[in-house]
Amino acid sequence: MYLRHEEGDSYYLAAYGDWQDFTLVLHEGDEWGCKNVAWKVSDEDDLESYQERIEESGYDAEFVDSEKPGIGNTLRFDYPGASPEYMELVYDVARAFDTVPEENRSRLKNQPTRKPEQGAGYRRIDHVNFNLSNASECAQWFQDVLDFNLREEGLGPDGEQLAAWLSVSPLVHEIAFVTPPEDGNALDKIDHVAYYMDGGQAGELERTADLLKERNIEIVGGPARHGISQAHFMYYVTPGGNKVEVFSGGYLIFDPEWEPITWTPEDGSDGFVWWGGKAGSHARRQYDFVPTDETDWSEHDAYPIRTRPEQEPPE
Ligand SMILES: [Fe+2]
Repeated sequence: MYLRHEEGDSYYLAAYGDWQDFTLVLHEGDEWGCKNVAWKVSDEDDLESYQERIEESGYDAEFVDSEKPGIGNTLRFDYPGASPEYMELVYDVARAFDTVPEENRSRLKNQPTRKPEQGAGYRRIDHVNFNLSNASECAQWFQDVLDFNLREEGLGPDGEQLAAWLSVSPLVHEIAFVTPPEDGNALDKIDHVAYYMDGGQAGELERTADLLKERNIEIVGGPARHGISQAHFMYYVTPGGNKVEVFSGGYLIFDPEWEPITWTPEDGSDGFVWWGGKAGSHARRQYDFVPTDETDWSEHDAYPIRTRPEQEPPE
């Protein structure tokens, strides 16, 4: 990714195809996690109408001056989830086509930044995923108050919604809310941010796996393929402790009458890992929202994330 700005302990980053000036801000801190997610509205007047709707739903929403470069009027709001600390709606966002320095411009007129000659080569931000104790409530709130569409969902044995994938664009999700298994990931925290990569499984994703291994950065899931979203994926944990998903391929939704796709315990783990061999089993144990059996996955060299012991590479 490209470092666009550096201010104090904040680092502003963008992928080469991100049309925004930046899509990720890293702050130095004592622990991993996500402080803020911001969404752009399509019309400036929407900011005030969403302020009303958020307040009517019982949550605070106030206009603040953004501390981020190139961001205009900002509606900061709270919502039912415990993470992130707050969210924001914005309208004015600096565009990469206007801000990328000459030496990083692409000769392709429809791409703001040239492909990096080193590194993984993410094209654009794709989605964020939160592990929340009230995942279903948050998903409903996003539909009712912010006009997101439910695209896919995962149900538990009693028909309760345990996970939801939502979007406002043809992407299957820009945000997911997931109830993690009891012995799984940290609750009420972000699970991961995902960046999109061209080429599918055998393309740049595979090259990125090699780059991660060369740097001794642990791949904690995949490369494998999701049933939900149908994307090729791989997860790794950065040295700062945050998890990143490499996300490639997948399907898009253009049908205005799209009905949410529902996954149930009868589907087993197909929703999370459609295929993916041993690495898929590892990921399934860590993240699957549907506990399917009582297998002790530690016998298969799989452990919940962040408690996984140092181990030798598989034979
Ligand atoms: Fe994801």
